[in-house]
Amino acid sequence: MRKLTIVGAGRVGEAAAQILAHQDLVHEIVLIDVKEGAAAGVALDIQATAPLFRFDTRLTGTTDPAAMAGSSLVVITAGVPRKPGMSRSDVLDTNVAILDGILDQVLRHAPEAIVLVVSNPVDVLTYRAWQRSGWPRGRVLGQAGVLDSSRMAAFIALETGLSAKHISAMVLGGHGDAMVPLIRYTTISGIGVNQFLDAAQIARIVERTRHGGAEVLALRKNSSAYDAPGAAIAEMVEAILLDRKAILPTVAVLDGEYGERGVAMGVPCVLGRSGVERIVPLGLTDDEQAQFAVSAAAVRQDIARLPGA
Ligand code: 2OP
Repeated sequence: MRKLTIVGAGRVGEAAAQILAHQDLVHEIVLIDVKEGAAAGVALDIQATAPLFRFDTRLTGTTDPAAMAGSSLVVITAGVPRKPGMSRSDVLDTNVAILDGILDQVLRHAPEAIVLVVSNPVDVLTYRAWQRSGWPRGRVLGQAGVLDSSRMAAFIALETGLSAKHISAMVLGGHGDAMVPLIRYTTISGIGVNQFLDAAQIARIVERTRHGGAEVLALRKNSSAYDAPGAAIAEMVEAILLDRKAILPTVAVLDGEYGERGVAMGVPCVLGRSGVERIVPLGLTDDEQAQFAVSAAAVRQDIARLPGA
């Protein structure tokens, strides 16, 4: 499991490549981008840091999709980003066409790979990628909940003044405004977070988490977030390539789990060398289950807009 491809050498793809190179996790990272020279430039720039960060990962960049051949994992970050005021669904039509093209290249050049979808709207595009691939659902997954949970844990650290290192948050559902931050499964050193925060503080953190991506976009104006998304990708890639059996919130195609099917969205999954190896069931309260259903309905509405796969 030593070759990784990242399709899309924009800021998210670059941030992920940089972190993964520093971790010296794979022999080779291939960056692919349709823009002439973009991927090669990113690869060369990161490669030049190898002596400083002491890694041996080789990075190459190209426009040629055939370069993904032999990859155990293909991460798809390509797509148009949203602009301030846009929802993730607003970029659906453009990004589904881009995803379809990339997926066809993966089927051709890396038919044994696991696919990790990052482009937005990620739940819909993960479902689309799975449908189009015809692969077992465990081999097509998406990144959202690791990012959203990390944001929530960071906000809790800021609010409590306690170490972020020991905060474990859990955000499920779709990667949209209806995402489901699960306070009951969020802990600081194993202690329920509501021991440290009152109801008003929790409500504020939940709201901020739901709009975490938009908050960064509104501040930066010309760019969505990329540092935290890049780190979230790296966390998932590591779990898969090192066969960690890590439980991470993952966009997975559901087939009855959490009362849903015909949709992909965030649920806790065991990630290892086969991709999603298991979906972990959680006991949800009626209210949490209802929030999950609302989030599923929003994703399903976008799935219904997809052209025939
Ligand atoms: C985010 O949440 C862009 O969806 C991405 O920052």
